[in-house]
Amino acid sequence: MKLPDDLARAFNDQITMELASSVAYLQMAAYFDGENLTGMGSWMKAQAEEEKVHAHRFLQFVLDRGNPVKIGSIEAPRSDFESVEQVFETALAQEQRVTEAIHDIYRLASDGGDLASFPFLQSFIEEQNEEEATVETILERVRLAGGESSAILLLDSELGGRTA
Ligand SMILES: [Fe+2]
Ligand SMILES: [Fe+2]
Repeated sequence: MKLPDDLARAFNDQITMELASSVAYLQMAAYFDGENLTGMGSWMKAQAEEEKVHAHRFLQFVLDRGNPVKIGSIEAPRSDFESVEQVFETALAQEQRVTEAIHDIYRLASDGGDLASFPFLQSFIEEQNEEEATVETILERVRLAGGESSAILLLDSELGGRTA
């Protein structure tokens, strides 16, 4: 069953938003690699890949519902980072915006009685919960490190151990 127009637009916008998140994480990865924080760099690259997977899942959902896919333009991500803390603050703010967007789509689907969207969107609501918690924990740990090189390097190697 086709998505109604407003919901189709919202789902398409979400494809674009997930791709924009992917690009933003890749920019963060490049910043960390440039600062020789290669563990954080690889963590961000894994994150960039994950956002691409999200974009593909939204894209496939739109196609499965029989609606056309239309990817929008992607703005240049922020690149003027001056500290590790700034990068993770930016990442957290980004995840919070994505969470809001997905909640908005869920409300739209709910108001329109589009039952077929519910399980798909619920899995993303859950996902966003986890993503926000993960980034929040890292940000708090960066703040605890307080710019101390040895603590930052320890966190860097910890994050480098992430398996996708
Ligand atoms: Fe995502
Ligand atoms: Fe995410």
